[in-house]
Parts: sequence; structure tokens; C-alpha cells
Amino acid sequence: MNRKRAAVLISGRGSNMMALIEAAKADDYPAVIALVVSNRHDAPGLERARDAGIPAAVVDHARFGEDRAAFEQALDAKLREHRIDLVCLAGFMRLLTPWFVARWSGRMLNIHPALLPQFKGLHTHRRVLEAGATRHGATVHFVVPEMDAGPIVEQESVAVRDDDTEATLSARVLELEHRIYPRALRALAEGKVGLTAAADQAKAK
Ligand code: GAR
Repeated sequence: MNRKRAAVLISGRGSNMMALIEAAKADDYPAVIALVVSNRHDAPGLERARDAGIPAAVVDHARFGEDRAAFEQALDAKLREHRIDLVCLAGFMRLLTPWFVARWSGRMLNIHPALLPQFKGLHTHRRVLEAGATRHGATVHFVVPEMDAGPIVEQESVAVRDDDTEATLSARVLELEHRIYPRALRALAEGKVGLTAAADQAKAK
């Protein structure tokens, strides 16, 4: 099997990254996690990746100040250096410019802790509770220039309980995240989903 080389981009604890690393240990998984990149030196996920034997690099956005283009060029160079085919954003808290998104178009996924297209953006668990929504969930989608707007690859939901807090709700959603991200990367690596095909499906709904 010719496995795709995937990179996971993180900014924090890296629990979704670990779910992908674990899934990719299976003999029949169509991708290897070949690289982890963090935009922050202090991301706890970096050490977890290294403990798992995965090359882990830092491309520190702060070093580039306001120069987003230079940051993204450095990130892109790092991905190319490691011959990366596919990119998984997993709690990567930087907005990407259209240049970077276009370079990785159809080859880059993101996980978002809500049932897109509802609750784009930050603090989704709090906003779901405030809105009194009865269901919540997680979504893996292709990255397009507009934030949290790309075609959906995988989505799962949970019921919101009366006694839920941000902490209990986010913990239940995180379990879903860890299930759907490995499935979505598998589908992409096997060529079962593509940006055009997913976009067509979204339009047909
Ligand atoms: C996850 O819940 C992910 O969905 C969310 O950040 C968390 C990262 O956790 N992503 C976003 O909010 C993107 N806007 P992790 O580092 O343990 O995977």
C-alpha cells in the first residue's frame, strides 16, 4: 500500500493529533503521520508527538510578527521538506490566507467542535449552551478560504443534556472528534472524498 504522508498542525494539547497517530498505527490505514507542526513552542502536543516517535517541528508565528505570508511560506517549506501529501488542522488556532489554502486545496482538513454550518468560530460549547440548542457535535471539513465553511467530510452529534456545562459538553464532543477525524483522513487518503465531489454533494442536499 502506498500510504499518503500526512502532517498534523497543532497549537495546543494535541488530543486529535494523538487520535490520528493511534489510528495510523493500523496496518491497513492509508496514511502515515509523517510530521507534526506547532505554531507555538509551548504546545503540549509537541512532546506527545515526540514521545510517539513522530517528527515534531515548530514554526513560530510570533517570529514573523504581522507578516502572515512569511509565516505561511515557512510552514509550507516545512511541509515540503517532509514530502507531505495531506494536512490535518487539529486545534491549529491560526487563520490561513487564501494563498496557503489554495496551495493545499483538496488536501487539507480541519476539525471543528460544532455541527457546521452552525456555530462557526470560537467558544462553540458555551455558545451552544447559551443558545439552548438540543444537539451539538463535531465536524471534519475541507479547508476553504472562508473560515469553517468548507464541504463536510464527517460529522457526528450528541444530545445536549439539561445539566451540561461547557466542560461536560466539550468532553463528550471530544470523544466524537477522536472518532471522526481518523475516519475523515482515511476517506481522503483513499481518494473516497475530494473537494469537488464533496462540494457537489453539499450542493445536492
Ligand atoms: C478541538 O476541540 C478542536 O475541535 C478545536 O480545538 C480543540 C483542540 O483540541 N478546534 C477549533 O476550535 C478550531 N477552531 P486538541 O488539541 O486536544 O486536539
